Amino acid sequence: MKELNLLIVDDEPGIRSGIKRILKSFTVGFPFMAEDFSFNLLEAETGEKALEFINNSNIDIILLDNKLPGIQGIEVLEYINKNNISTEVMMITSYASLDLAVKATNSGAYNFVPKPFTPQELKAAIEAITKHLYLKRMTMEMKKEDKKVKFQFLSVLSHELKSPINAVEGYLNIMKDKQAGNDISDYETMIDRALLRIKGMRSLIMDLLDLTKLESGPKQRHIQAVDLHEIAMLAINSVEPLANQRNIKIYLDADENIYYNSDSKEIEIIFNNLLSNAVKYNKPNGSVNISIKKSDKEIKIIVQDTGIGMTKDDISKLFHDFVRIKNIKTRDITGTGLGLSITKKMVELNNGDINVESIPDEGSTFTVRLPL
Ligand SMILES: Nc1ncnc2c1ncn2[C@@H]1O[C@H](COP(=O)(O)OP(=O)(O)O)[C@@H](O)[C@H]1O
Ligand SMILES: [Mg+2]
Repeated sequence: MKELNLLIVDDEPGIRSGIKRILKSFTVGFPFMAEDFSFNLLEAETGEKALEFINNSNIDIILLDNKLPGIQGIEVLEYINKNNISTEVMMITSYASLDLAVKATNSGAYNFVPKPFTPQELKAAIEAITKHLYLKRMTMEMKKEDKKVKFQFLSVLSHELKSPINAVEGYLNIMKDKQAGNDISDYETMIDRALLRIKGMRSLIMDLLDLTKLESGPKQRHIQAVDLHEIAMLAINSVEPLANQRNIKIYLDADENIYYNSDSKEIEIIFNNLLSNAVKYNKPNGSVNISIKKSDKEIKIIVQDTGIGMTKDDISKLFHDFVRIKNIKTRDITGTGLGLSITKKMVELNNGDINVESIPDEGSTFTVRLPL
């Protein structure tokens, strides 16, 4: 049970004690709220006293009379509004003129309860304002969380771009100062390393472009019957140079006429990432088996490799932005750590799911299921 601080501001002691009696053991709960709310009841007989409470403790809800001996209720409300104080205000007043109602609403009062009110009316109003408060705070929490995630992403991204730029800059400065002499061939390793870092940056940028397409939303999807065999062949062609270098064989087991209604770009990204990983994280002379199977309810795409594999612990970290498994086996393999997270998002855009099974040093199997 969570307790909310509820301040009753009224100059009539009878009203204050009446409200206290009604709300003393009152609680508010909704199916979507994790816990019920009860109320810690506080009293102020003047507007000045109310301001003291507001400034010195966290008041969640205020029941505010307008006609008070010193400053008026509406002035208390204006103070709250001007100072951005996070509290919800409900006006309780006997002479509810239109003018006052407009003023109060403009100053952010949640609602009005005319005096006199029945216990039921008060309870209903408190229930409404509590729900409103809860939803408002939840929304704020979510926005904060969202911002945090975005900033984490940007900070990792800047780091990932900064390190290759520093490296290339370092090599260029060495060459400019001719630190290894006048013979260009003495700089060959440096040039190769610089080119490799640039290649890494390019693939990071390509991944980011995929990600941007994703974030810009499903409105730009071009849904059509996508030929899965054809997309698989395209993906195989693009990883073939690397596969040949390491003598890795790629096998495709798929019927020629399996079609899936989707955006072909999305399906391409899925195949490209799974295949490039299956080759990159494979061992020399290894193999990759791709199978595409169609049943009544789904299409199953399986990409299996005979590579370095992963531990259970590694697997639990996959599919998030910038996750790369760091160990001796992956040390010399370049990548961005964005491929699988993008792949997962693409699969989810199609209401499918992606799973992985793996045994260290034996290989990994990625299974994508797309519902029909
Ligand atoms: N087939 C695979 N076999 C072993 N490890 C893999 C495989 N696919 C992905 N991984 C691991 O998951 C990490 C994340 O993959 P991914 O998101 O594609 O990023 P990248 O390939 O750019 O590093 C890789 O760095 C690698 O450690
Ligand atoms: Mg990858």
